[in-house]
Amino acid sequence: MRVAITGAAGLFGQGLVAAFSTRYEVVPLTRADADITNAEALLAVLERVRPELVVHPAGIPDLDICEADPARGFLVNCQGTRNVVEAARRVGAGIAYISTDAVFDGKKLAPYLETDEPRPLTVYGKTKLQAEQAVKTWAKHWIFRVPVLFGPGKTNFVEKGLRKIASGGEYVVGNDQWGCATHTVDAGMKIMEVVEKGPCGLYHLSNQGSCSRFELARLAAQLAGLDPEKVVGVPDAMLRRRTPRLKYAVMEMGALRQAGFALPRPWQESLADYVRTVLK
Ligand SMILES: NC(=O)c1ccc[n+]([C@@H]2O[C@H](COP(=O)([O-])OP(=O)(O)OC[C@H]3O[C@@H](n4cnc5c(N)ncnc54)[C@H](OP(=O)(O)O)[C@@H]3O)[C@@H](O)[C@H]2O)c1
Repeated sequence: MRVAITGAAGLFGQGLVAAFSTRYEVVPLTRADADITNAEALLAVLERVRPELVVHPAGIPDLDICEADPARGFLVNCQGTRNVVEAARRVGAGIAYISTDAVFDGKKLAPYLETDEPRPLTVYGKTKLQAEQAVKTWAKHWIFRVPVLFGPGKTNFVEKGLRKIASGGEYVVGNDQWGCATHTVDAGMKIMEVVEKGPCGLYHLSNQGSCSRFELARLAAQLAGLDPEKVVGVPDAMLRRRTPRLKYAVMEMGALRQAGFALPRPWQESLADYVRTVLK
């Protein structure tokens, strides 16, 4: 199978390329290869590549950028995704879209199921939900909602903390935000399995278990042999962000269970593997 992957130079894009390259012919598409906001150019690329599947993580994942410039957020995340869907439909390719836990409002205080009503509070969450709706208009679709990502190739929440502490600083993080976490390559391998064997539809996907951002950063520091006390937890409100983060975004992987898939390994195990590679 030939698989085109958008946003291939991004954090998740690199994990997806690594995972899918283990079994398939992968065509990595960076923004320079195919700007998803340019419908005609994108279609021309997919007509040339002729993929059977388009995996689509490209977009703007930064909440503050989307909040500051909603037009740009909607153009890339939403209209860009509509263009990817239309181009995939025209070449007959399936689409695996990467969405987010930020489609929820964080007020449920019990794990979110795929059947729960999304109610995004942020511009970013709204762009991603509208993009999901666009993806659902094409029958051959899979949507994977993922939580905070860590993995090789591009700086991320975990690596940022390790580098700060290793250079003598403190890492100040919110201690009142609960969610899941996932290694990009673990998630990529599971996505590959689902598109091979599973029904189309919506899936929550993360490493198993849940944690606060504070716990995630602390365990990463400890695993890296750094002082975990250098991770300082404060209420998110004290971080004075433009966009408040969700207090609670734990996702239940009901659809994966129901379809008979084994769940990815616990987050602590994948974090240990990842951390070993960071400060080498
Ligand atoms: N990071 C997380 O913790 C997280 C959590 C939940 C969900 N997600 C979702 O996962 C997906 C990937 O996130 P990520 O962390 O890998 O983001 P990332 O590292 O910023 O990667 C996104 C990629 O999309 C590309 N892109 C941006 N605008 C584009 C355009 N107009 N045309 C083509 N490509 C474009 C970017 O290229 P340039 O660098 O050239 O702009 C970048 O390589 C996103 O859809 C995000 O919503 C991420």
